[in-house]
Amino acid sequence: MSNAAPAVEGRIHEFRTASGADTIQLGRKLARLLHPPQLLILQGDLGTGKTTLVKGIAQALDAADPDEVTSPTFTLLHEYDGSLDGQSVKLFHLDVYRLEGERQLETLGLDDLLTPDALVLVEWGEKFKSIRKKATGEIVIASEGGDARRITVTLKS
Ligand SMILES: Nc1ncnc2c1ncn2[C@@H]1O[C@H](COP(=O)(O)OP(=O)(O)OP(=O)(O)O)[C@@H](O)[C@H]1O
Ligand SMILES: [Mg+2]
Repeated sequence: MSNAAPAVEGRIHEFRTASGADTIQLGRKLARLLHPPQLLILQGDLGTGKTTLVKGIAQALDAADPDEVTSPTFTLLHEYDGSLDGQSVKLFHLDVYRLEGERQLETLGLDDLLTPDALVLVEWGEKFKSIRKKATGEIVIASEGGDARRITVTLKS
């Protein structure tokens, strides 16, 4: 069970889900809270559902179907074009689990991604101080046994 320390402080929303499908549905709902530009850390143990949550967010933005959203484990970065309330949104989904050190991270060019229409979601982003500093919010997923998850969303006000 993960008891992750929060990487950012702000307004807190707490949710519980009981299945992967539930978490996709929560992602669809959360998309409405996430106004670009936004850089969110997705924190949670291996296999808790970070990528699953992104599936729902991407779906709500008409950016991709859940099946099309896969883990950016090796590619590090997936990019989707979407929209919310008639405004275009660039969705960037990153996984920095395999990156070692700030030097490797720099090759991703995170600063260039954060344009006014960008929603940047970074799995394992809490590993890096530079990402913690840039983050405008954080989503922490904690397993509560079996398929149950507690999902805490913190948005800097
Ligand atoms: N309540 C739940 N929420 C999310 N996923 C769940 C839940 N219950 C079961 N699952 C399953 O757990 C798995 C989560 O995998 P996912 O790839 O989303 O995790 P992850 O946190 O991105 O892992 P990694 O750190 O390896 O990238 C999926 O197979 C999903 O169906
Ligand atoms: Mg993942």
